[in-house]
Amino acid sequence: MLDIKVGLLSEFQAGPDPIAVFATEDGGPAAAFLSPKARKALSDAAKDEGFTGKACETASLKFNDGAKERRLVLIGLGKKKDADADAYRKAAAGLFKAFKGRFESLWLLAGPQAAVCTEGLLLGSYQFTEYKKAESEDKLKGVRFAAANAGERNKAQAAVERAALGAEAVCFARDLVNRGPSDKSPEAMADIAKSLAGPEVKVEVIDRKQAEKLGMGLLLAVSRGATKEPRMVHFTYTPKGAKPRKKVAVVGKGVVFDSGGLSLKPPASMETMKDDMSGAALVFGVFKVLARLKLKAEVHGYAALAYNMPGPDAIKPGDVVKAMNGKTVEILNTDAEGRLVLADALHWATQEKPQAILDFATLTGAQLVALGSGITATMTNDKALLAKVAAAGKRCDEATWELPLPKQYEDMVKSKIADLLNIGTVRVEAGTIVGGLFLKHFVGETPWVHLDIAGPAWTGSGNAICPPGGTGALVRTTLDWLAAL
Ligand code: BES
Ligand code: MN
Ligand code: ZN
Repeated sequence: MLDIKVGLLSEFQAGPDPIAVFATEDGGPAAAFLSPKARKALSDAAKDEGFTGKACETASLKFNDGAKERRLVLIGLGKKKDADADAYRKAAAGLFKAFKGRFESLWLLAGPQAAVCTEGLLLGSYQFTEYKKAESEDKLKGVRFAAANAGERNKAQAAVERAALGAEAVCFARDLVNRGPSDKSPEAMADIAKSLAGPEVKVEVIDRKQAEKLGMGLLLAVSRGATKEPRMVHFTYTPKGAKPRKKVAVVGKGVVFDSGGLSLKPPASMETMKDDMSGAALVFGVFKVLARLKLKAEVHGYAALAYNMPGPDAIKPGDVVKAMNGKTVEILNTDAEGRLVLADALHWATQEKPQAILDFATLTGAQLVALGSGITATMTNDKALLAKVAAAGKRCDEATWELPLPKQYEDMVKSKIADLLNIGTVRVEAGTIVGGLFLKHFVGETPWVHLDIAGPAWTGSGNAICPPGGTGALVRTTLDWLAAL
């Protein structure tokens, strides 16, 4: 993995490595370390190369800074007004891709944007290598951010380390999502959870027998068609030192493969359904780094792990099952399984009496229709809590958009023969909201936000900071929200 640190500008000046400098279309290269005269010469040289400063454009120049000739790399950010944190993150990823085969180490002049550049470098260089060798053996092994003095360096170093931990959590979640569905059974996932235990992180695993005793009827119902048994994972992070003032929970849908069950999906819809544990992967990612981030809150993490398969004993449309909280649910479509496993996980989470619960789930195809793969759908029973989560999303450039949980739709999850129905009474309407309305019955009075990440969890084409596959969406946002508690 790329080694990223912060050094002093003087160290750069003494050494032979090239330095990368950001540039905008209307402001030119931002090379504050050069004299005005040298800056002008650099601008001219860039123009001469045909470099305009467009977003993610790069150029490599030999440049004489007055003392000696050296290699200077330019990266475009687009127009000055568009050069926000996200532009830096993407440009840093572009920088890695452009020069990973060319230089062994690089300096990068990023000022206060060192942290987002760290994210861009680490997320942009991610490759999934479990089943085949890395596409490229990257030559580029180290990036140094250049700080003007020791004070600045120490501040930047701390920010870079936090960003690197966030990226590590994202990449860990991506690895789990990208793994084949037969290679991540609930049991195997639970073993991975156990490997994350440490002095501050406790891991409890509930197997089928214990789930029966606890009355987790919905989790058990979903996994009945599979030969592999379900698991429920409960992480507890207790920070060292002072008693935490906050106690919160994050809950993830962990359907390790969603075939639809007897309400079988068509083949094309199944192709990406190994990603149906992205909520659980998010929880795993968060707990991988929590202790090292030294967060102050007590954090509980839950992952509801099950296969959704057709099988001789699979749940059937028309079955009525009892949830851990005592409510009965009529199952008319076995493909609406996420809300079932989550319902028991949410109710279990409320027993810790957290001040807030966030759940993350690839819950509905309707989310993808409504908001696409770039915007997570949020629903809540507590506007103030949602405002904080949305603000964290904004800070991390992970967009969210609220959908309502209106009273007038509450009857859509009522069954004629049981307390609840697992699909909407009006089949094609408001699918994402119906999912949220169902889950609301399992959180009681606990402040709660439901985040439907069906679209954002996966990228078919890849993007500037993620190759095709699992994205690790909302992992950074969750860490940011936790850090601000
Ligand atoms: N895992 C799917 C939702 C999904 C669809 C995620 C596409 C990512 C991409 C979920 O379990 C599901 O099948 N939902 C059904 C619910 C319906 C039967 C009420 C859906 O959205 O079609
Ligand atoms: Mn489904
Ligand atoms: Zn599903």
